[in-house]
Amino acid sequence: MSLPACVTMREVGTRDGIQSLGAFVPTEHKIEMANRLATTGLTRIEVTSFVSPKAVPQMADAEQVMAGIKRVPGVSWEPLVPNLRGTERALATRPDRILVVLSASDTFNLKNIRMTIDDSLRSIGEIIPLARTAGVPVIAAISTSFGCPYSGDVPEERLFGVIGSLLDLGADEVSIADTTGMANPLQVERTVGRVLDRWPDANFGLHFHNTRGMGLANVVAGVRAGVTVYDASIGGIGGCPFAPKATGNVSTEDVVHMLHEMGIETGVDLEALIGCANRMGEILGRELPGQVMKAGPRSTRHAA
Ligand code: COA
Ligand code: ZN
Repeated sequence: MSLPACVTMREVGTRDGIQSLGAFVPTEHKIEMANRLATTGLTRIEVTSFVSPKAVPQMADAEQVMAGIKRVPGVSWEPLVPNLRGTERALATRPDRILVVLSASDTFNLKNIRMTIDDSLRSIGEIIPLARTAGVPVIAAISTSFGCPYSGDVPEERLFGVIGSLLDLGADEVSIADTTGMANPLQVERTVGRVLDRWPDANFGLHFHNTRGMGLANVVAGVRAGVTVYDASIGGIGGCPFAPKATGNVSTEDVVHMLHEMGIETGVDLEALIGCANRMGEILGRELPGQVMKAGPRSTRHAA
């Protein structure tokens, strides 16, 4: 089996990680963390979201956060947008890419962005040309791709239908997301393998949550299937406010550590990431789920 020699990490900690926290994280801390993450070798950062501040108060400072980030060469800042209004707000802040979301499950889509899948596709059909005109590529993320916390299994053909529609609309990349940690590794390898067989020339990313401890195994399954873009959040923080019992994304430093141990490059400095995770723990004032930040890398040696 040939595994990819390198993969790209997409950091989502300051968006997916922070969005559902109760206490407002001060804007200067979000900016500090985003800028520090950008010095670790990470090249893609989902830094904030331009959503309704009533729906997600934690992201009410999206404009200020975008104004505070340092534009480092080689780092792509990729805020999330839920609708046309969010797209207009985001484009005014000079993002490098934007990420638009919809769900593979109608029930979840209604809960999360209050549209049916068909209405979402119509909206994305307006968003993509607008972004194109501004020269900004669009990633389309499909939440609950491997299972919905409300309606259960998501048939593969449904997922493939949504992927096909997004590619037809001109999405530059499709991110297949397991919003509530329902995927298992065999399911990921099988489903994602079929996706890559069907669309060999399209760009795909994977987004896993570690809700049930299957996150890292699912990353390995995705790597074996051939996907080379992975979302993760620093310290493993996160969870969708519109999904019951949602918990954190796979932790960036745990994924990077695992991939490096497997001989797969990420271009990211693990020690620098651990520094970011520790700082995030200080900012949030609690212990984070990440494991390598506590145990240290495998190369750590203790006095006998
Ligand atoms: N940015 C700021 N405000 C927005 C907005 C945006 N992108 N989209 C809508 N609004 C405002 C409207 O102006 C309106 O404000 P008002 O009550 O002061 O008039 C209010 O939100 C409702 O607007 P409406 O178009 O009816 O939207 P909605 O109530 O159907 O909400 C969403 C739809 C998607 C905008 C909203 O639910 C949302 O932002 N959800 C966040 C989803 C999310 O972040 N999920 C986690 C990540 S996947
Ligand atoms: Zn997520």
